Amino acid sequence: MKYRNELIEGRGSKKLPFLLFLCTENVDMSKRILITGGAGFIGSHVVRLFVQQYPAYQIVNLDCLTYAGNLANLKDIEQSPNYFFEKVNILDVPALEQVFKKYDITDVLHLAAESHVDRSIVSPLDFVYTNVIGTVNLLNTAKTYWKENLAEHRFYHISTDEVYGTLGDTGLFTEQTPYAPNSPYSASKASSDHFVRAYHETYHLPVVISNCSNNYGPFHFPEKLIPLFINNIIHQKPLPVYGDGKNTRDWLYVIDHARAIDVVFHQGKNGETYNIGGFNEWKNIDLVQLLCRLMDEKLGRDPGTSARLITYVKDRPGHDLRYAIDATKINRELGWKPSVTFEEGLSKTIDWYLDNKEWLEQVTSGDYQHYYEKMYHQS
Ligand code: NAD
Ligand code: DAU
Repeated sequence: MKYRNELIEGRGSKKLPFLLFLCTENVDMSKRILITGGAGFIGSHVVRLFVQQYPAYQIVNLDCLTYAGNLANLKDIEQSPNYFFEKVNILDVPALEQVFKKYDITDVLHLAAESHVDRSIVSPLDFVYTNVIGTVNLLNTAKTYWKENLAEHRFYHISTDEVYGTLGDTGLFTEQTPYAPNSPYSASKASSDHFVRAYHETYHLPVVISNCSNNYGPFHFPEKLIPLFINNIIHQKPLPVYGDGKNTRDWLYVIDHARAIDVVFHQGKNGETYNIGGFNEWKNIDLVQLLCRLMDEKLGRDPGTSARLITYVKDRPGHDLRYAIDATKINRELGWKPSVTFEEGLSKTIDWYLDNKEWLEQVTSGDYQHYYEKMYHQS
């Protein structure tokens, strides 16, 4: 590491052990972490956690602000002295190289991705570009920039449980479950996971991967089930349940995912994968019924008002039946477990959307996108 070498060299005095201690402390505390996709849903919670929890780290949020990226998600921390933003696309290699150089990046937390399954069915190539090629661009940039002292760095790839495909009525996804992605989204994430693993095996890049189940919470873009249905209930619009509503997902409060990412980043072993999940399976229709009941209570509407909005629609093509994560490894080896029950988390999430209707209106109207286009002179 540069600091350590500069300070150790040329100081053959008795003070060396003390200096060494000081410098090692310095090295450890002076990480300059690139977080990609930090303006998105999960990324913004990860950026907030790292900025607040580690004031000695420099946190560089790199995001090209697609429809899903919104700097309003980070308003509360944007003035923090250890927070920096770079509007860069991970497909732009020279710009990536510049950012690594400008901040002397020591570690990467890679979250930037196209993340919505329905969009991947319409435009698979967008997912190949960002999720596969973008990831390989980042791997190459990190590998080249860190070539002098690879082992001192870390490339952490944040992935999804969807890479494992679908479960039947029983069983859980473990870290040993073979990959069997079924949608263009999950195929692109699976591919990116394989590249990350290959860079570890082939080039000894120090990597770690985590595969997480469905997140929910504040700042979730209202195209995904929970925020879409909250928004539709507020406006008394139909709630489009795909197929028979029996598909099952394992839900985790987003702040618990951010906590898990913190733990894996600091304590996870190189070359390992960690599954992260909520131990919290819900059939879509049961979740939607619960959501309707809570929303009626919070909005002071008669019981059953929101449930009348439920409309069964044509199923998503290739719709995975069931996801459920076995999170024993991260619990046993790193001591992580979810801190929020689903009832608490869902209630907090609804309250957040009801208290932040302006955010919801801005992202559904597209106002914020026009604002950033103007701000960054992009067409
Ligand atoms: P999101 O769609 O809310 O955010 C993605 C962010 O990436 C946005 O800010 C967007 O602007 C940015 N981005 C997209 N393309 C980019 C590009 N080419 N260059 C730079 N930035 C780009 O996604 P999310 O739900 O927060 O998911 C974040 C990560 O976590 C993804 O890798 C996703 O696969 C993974 N994940 C998500 C979930 C979930 O339930 N949402 C669960 C497990 C894993
Ligand atoms: O499992 C982790 C994954 O969870 C992440 O990797 C993805 O980025 C994230 O989008 C999410 O994928 P899903 O496809 O599970 O999430 P979505 O919110 O789109 O759908 C959840 C379930 O609800 C799924 O079974 C499809 C169903 N659904 C979804 C929408 C948007 C509906 O029935 N109606 C809807 O309108």
